[in-house]
Amino acid sequence: MPQIGLGTFLIPKEELSRTIAEAYEMGYRQFDTAWRYHNEKEIAQALKDNGIKREDVFITTKVNRDALYFGNYKVGKRSIFNLRNFRSVKDVIQESFDNLNTDYIDLFLLHWIYPLDLTLQMYEELTRLYHEGRIRAIGVCSSLPPHFAAYADVSDVVPAVNQFEISPLNTQKNLIKYCQDRGIAVTAMSTFSHFRSNEPRAEISENAIIKSIAEKYGKSTFQVVLRWLVQQDIIVIPKTWETAHLKENISLDDFSLTQEEMTMIDSLDQGKFLNYDPTPWVKKMPAKYRDIKC
Ligand SMILES: NC(=O)c1ccc[n+]([C@@H]2O[C@H](COP(=O)([O-])OP(=O)(O)OC[C@H]3O[C@@H](n4cnc5c(N)ncnc54)[C@H](OP(=O)(O)O)[C@@H]3O)[C@@H](O)[C@H]2O)c1
Repeated sequence: MPQIGLGTFLIPKEELSRTIAEAYEMGYRQFDTAWRYHNEKEIAQALKDNGIKREDVFITTKVNRDALYFGNYKVGKRSIFNLRNFRSVKDVIQESFDNLNTDYIDLFLLHWIYPLDLTLQMYEELTRLYHEGRIRAIGVCSSLPPHFAAYADVSDVVPAVNQFEISPLNTQKNLIKYCQDRGIAVTAMSTFSHFRSNEPRAEISENAIIKSIAEKYGKSTFQVVLRWLVQQDIIVIPKTWETAHLKENISLDDFSLTQEEMTMIDSLDQGKFLNYDPTPWVKKMPAKYRDIKC
């Protein structure tokens, strides 16, 4: 799996073809999408239009419980029309293959991990496709030790990847160690973002410590943070459709942070989620899983 990939959440559809062409030219080989981003078809089209062969790229996509719901109309807090399982798990996973116009997916992730029964149905179906060879690796998102215990109860396949939020404000040291000790690769998501917005977090990009390190190396603060992740053997998938930013984000191998600088960035940790805190869902899990810790 290429260590640097391109996140595609919220990239405008009309920018995807150019962005993917430029990214490929610069050396990007991993594209991170999801059923929920409603851009799988456009990504397949962009690869085709730019003459990029399927076997030359690594595609990550995700199955989301939202694909299983039909309508979700709410009055206040009450759901008045919410047909669950109106399509089968099998069908919604197949839809990503169809959208991406491919007969195999390099990495298929569980996008979200609640409610547990649906999550595990999806994990079982991913396992079946993995054994058929149509999915080359199964992964998960935002998963904590209780979730890993639940996956092990329904499948003989340990997730190859856990994709979760990591940033200097939330360094996630325990979870990273938990995963890496078990051979589960870690992908950082939403390192810079404001949820559903394209404004990066100034708390990170304007941080005085990160800025001083960036100045020393003549790099941007984004590059310093990405380098901090890469030096922890973490896979990164920053999202941008700006040519200059695409170039910056893949230009990380001509400098290296000292141990002291790594520690300075680690020390910014506040355990603060910018977007996705999965811990509240753990409370809703069966007691046998709930108390499993990193
Ligand atoms: N599994 C999940 O549940 C989940 C959740 C969220 C995201 N993801 C995946 O993770 C990917 C990345 O996360 P994200 O989209 O939330 O946000 P992100 O990549 O952490 O942050 C994107 C923001 O950073 C800015 N940026 C990126 N590189 C920059 C650079 N070199 N210089 C200046 N600004 C830069 C972008 O602005 P510009 O556009 O101006 O460059 C944008 O505002 C997603 O696209 C998606 O593929 C997965």
